[in-house]
Parts: sequence; structure tokens; C-alpha cells
Amino acid sequence: MELKQAIMEDTDKLIEQVLKLKQQKNTVILVHNYQIPDMYKIADFIGDSLELSKQAAKTDADIILFCGVKFMAETAKILSPKKTVLLPTLEAGCSLADMATAEKLKEMKKKHPKAAVVSYINTSAEVKALSDVCCTSMNAVKIVNSLPNEEIIFLPDKNLGRYVQSKTNKKIILWDGYCSIHHELNAEALTDLKKQNPNAMVIAHPECRTDILQVADHICGTGGMAIFAKLDKAKDFIVVTECGMTEKLREDAPDKNFHSFCNICPYMKTTTLPLVVNSLKNNQNEIKLPEEIIVKAKKALDRMLEFA
Ligand code: 13P
Repeated sequence: MELKQAIMEDTDKLIEQVLKLKQQKNTVILVHNYQIPDMYKIADFIGDSLELSKQAAKTDADIILFCGVKFMAETAKILSPKKTVLLPTLEAGCSLADMATAEKLKEMKKKHPKAAVVSYINTSAEVKALSDVCCTSMNAVKIVNSLPNEEIIFLPDKNLGRYVQSKTNKKIILWDGYCSIHHELNAEALTDLKKQNPNAMVIAHPECRTDILQVADHICGTGGMAIFAKLDKAKDFIVVTECGMTEKLREDAPDKNFHSFCNICPYMKTTTLPLVVNSLKNNQNEIKLPEEIIVKAKKALDRMLEFA
């Protein structure tokens, strides 16, 4: 009990330190839904990959500190090129984004010259710069259907790509990438959990495999989950994604019941309060991108925002 008390006091002190530094340095702090709940306490905005960067671009902050992973911080930089963007730790990568390299995409484009390239937000700035348009899990189907091309190179998530293929007549050329956190969830175990909780609504991220999505009642990204869980009249939910999401939903809707069917993303959990303090104090781990990449990647993001 004494140890728990000491940890809580330490956490409170760190939070206080962050809040003070954030004010002194005119900083906006973005916290992705998958982060640990301590991070929610320092956030100006909590949300999904894209929404956070859009919110930050609207502020007059000098610094954006992103508690999330690298591709998210890069997106923030692309949308706010004049602001300083900090990532508390460079360990916060994304195995899915790493599965798509610029070199491999160049080869793929040569093989399919008539295809448009639609890249999911979980990609590096370099890959976005080589893409015709970006998408999120929420708008992927709409973006694909808005393009004039009949063939679409969709990267890097093959599960999301298959989901899009099930909703469009266009030919989706899948990329062999996946998010292991979602890909490794087991459909049989989910079916069992659903049987044990017959009144629960299953909400699943479209990065899950098709057999999981077939069990789901509602398929959406993390931003969609937060909205759906609040507004839907169901009282019981099974949340199928990264484990942090359930914590967020419990905070948002304390009168509802959330069962977690999830894996933990180690990259998302590398961000801690001491790392935030260090990054903010010393402008540590600034995201820097070449001007040319920013301009091209912004075009792909802007085109998405136009279509969506
Ligand atoms: P969202 O865009 O739904 O927040 O998802 C982020 C992510 O990285 C899922 O693995």
C-alpha cells in the first residue's frame, strides 16, 4: 500500500511538471487512444491517428508533443510544417508502417502502372509522398470509390485491404502487410466470448482478419469506437483491438460495460511520463522531414480530406 501511494505521488508530480512545461513552451499535447491512462491526464486532445493531427494544426501552439507512434508524429509535422513536433521516444515505431518501404512501393507502381496508390495513414512520410491519396480505416472505402482508377494498390494492411475489397467493385491489389496486434487475434476465442456475453455488441478494428470481422457487429477505427460506444444504446461491448482502447471507453462511458478482446502494442506503451518531461524540457526527439517529402505527402493527405 505504501509503495502504491509513493508511485501515485510520483505520477502526480510528473503530471504537474508536464502541465507546467506545456504552458511555458506553448505546447499542445496529443494522446492516442491506445496510450496508458496516465497520459490522458496531460492531453489537450485524445483521439485517433488522423484526428489528433488535424486538431493540432488548428491551434496556435509552437510545439506539438505526440504521445503515440512515429508515423502519427510525422503526420502531425506534415499538417503543421511550421510547428516543432516532438515524439517522447524514438522507440515508438509501428511494425505495420515498417512493412511498406518507399523502394518496394516504387517497384509495385512499375508493375501496376494504371493503378492508383492508396496508402493507409499507418505509413511513413516517404511512402505517403509516393501515394496518390491517403486513407484512414474510417474513410478507406469512400476514398477508393472516389478515385477514377479501376485498379488500386492498397497498402500496407492486407486485412483492411480485404475489408475494402468486400465493399467495392474495384480491383484491390493487396500489400503483404499486417498489424500483428490485430492479425493474431483468434476468431474462435472471440466467438466463445460472444457466447458468454450474448447481449454484448462486438466492435472490431478493420485491421483484424476477416474471420474476426465476420463475428463483429460493428467495424470501425478507434475514433469510431469512441463515438459508437457513447451513442449506441447497448450497455455491453466486446472491444476488439489494442488493449488501451478499453481503458479509454471505460473513462468515456463509466455506466457501460466493456470486455476487452485485445493484444498490447509494445510500441504504444513505450511512452512514459518521464520521457514526456525529458522530451519537452530539452526539445528531444524532434521530427524533421525534408521539405519535398512534406509537400508531396501533404498533397496525398489533402486529397483524402477533400474526398472524405
Ligand atoms: P486508428 O487510426 O483507428 O486510431 O488506429 C491506429 C492504429 O495504429 C491501429 O493499429
